[in-house]
Amino acid sequence: MSSSLNTLLKRATWLESGDIRPYVFVRPENMITNPGTRHNCDWFKHEPIFKNPLDLKELPFAEAIYQIEWKAFGTQDLAIPRWVFYDCAAMPGFVAGFAGRTSKLPQKVKTLLNFSDENEWCPLSLFIIIPTMHKGEWVAYDLCSVNSLLPKQEQYYGLGFLSKAFALWYANVNQCSGMTQWSSPSLKLHSNYGHLEMIGSYAPVHTHAKTMTYRCEVNTDNWEKFFTHEPDLAFLEKYGKTEHIIDPNDEQSMITMQNRIQNNEGPFYLNAGDIAQKGLRDPLTVYKLKQA
Ligand SMILES: CC(C)(COP(=O)(O)OP(=O)(O)OC[C@H]1O[C@@H](n2cnc3c(N)ncnc32)[C@H](O)[C@@H]1OP(=O)(O)O)[C@@H](O)C(=O)NCCC(=O)NCCS
Repeated sequence: MSSSLNTLLKRATWLESGDIRPYVFVRPENMITNPGTRHNCDWFKHEPIFKNPLDLKELPFAEAIYQIEWKAFGTQDLAIPRWVFYDCAAMPGFVAGFAGRTSKLPQKVKTLLNFSDENEWCPLSLFIIIPTMHKGEWVAYDLCSVNSLLPKQEQYYGLGFLSKAFALWYANVNQCSGMTQWSSPSLKLHSNYGHLEMIGSYAPVHTHAKTMTYRCEVNTDNWEKFFTHEPDLAFLEKYGKTEHIIDPNDEQSMITMQNRIQNNEGPFYLNAGDIAQKGLRDPLTVYKLKQA
């Protein structure tokens, strides 16, 4: 067992028993060839549960995914419409997460997700990625976990983080882009899968203009740091602080940075270590490649 798996299992104790396992909710034509062969990671020992989103028998599983999604995002005006899930996830993409053996789950979770015991596995999280026209690059556009609906002491620590980690590893994702809102707790997760380049800091075309668009080269070396909160020395060696900040309370700071990105003054990066230490609405320092 690697030392990173050791660290992980101390915090995400639920991962080991086999009663919570990764699932892959992908139509057969989109199954990954040689899964889990690009990145070095020994975290996911249990065989995933495979579900075909186009199979009518899997409708209860899909309905429970909707329950997590709608309840996690409903208040943010981002709940996924059914046609978007079907047309933009089930058909073109890769949907994955973790599922719990229904008979072993707390009744509260089953009630929250309106899930019945006759179905063996109940989804607990969701992550969606779709490949882009740009070879090797995937776009992530949905990450949510049942943790956001539970009090802290009843949560499955690392569920959201590990859902994305599993999917990136399993689908051999090289480059992952995504969008998130400034001040979202998800930034604490997204910044750990590889050095996070900010390719957009303001997106008025989106439902929420205060959206950050990012890209990272997936690198499993960083993943353990999500659990240890240790600084990423490789990041600090490569990138230095600029005088620029993004203040989640100040839209103008996002627009100013967006103009800098458009003027090719970047590339600009965010530091996972900084984000981990900060409150969700605290200003974030922007980093840049150090001069050679
Ligand atoms: C964001 C989300 C996916 C995180 O998943 P999760 O399973 O709750 O989080 P994990 O257990 O994997 O990770 C826990 C860490 O996440 C961060 N975190 C999660 N929720 C947080 C919150 N409400 N406030 C601050 N930090 C939070 C913390 O860093 C926490 O670690 P710590 O307690 O040691 O500081 C989940 O809260 C969610 O579904 N939110 C609603 C939907 C959403 O906003 N998705 C993001 C779209 S880009």
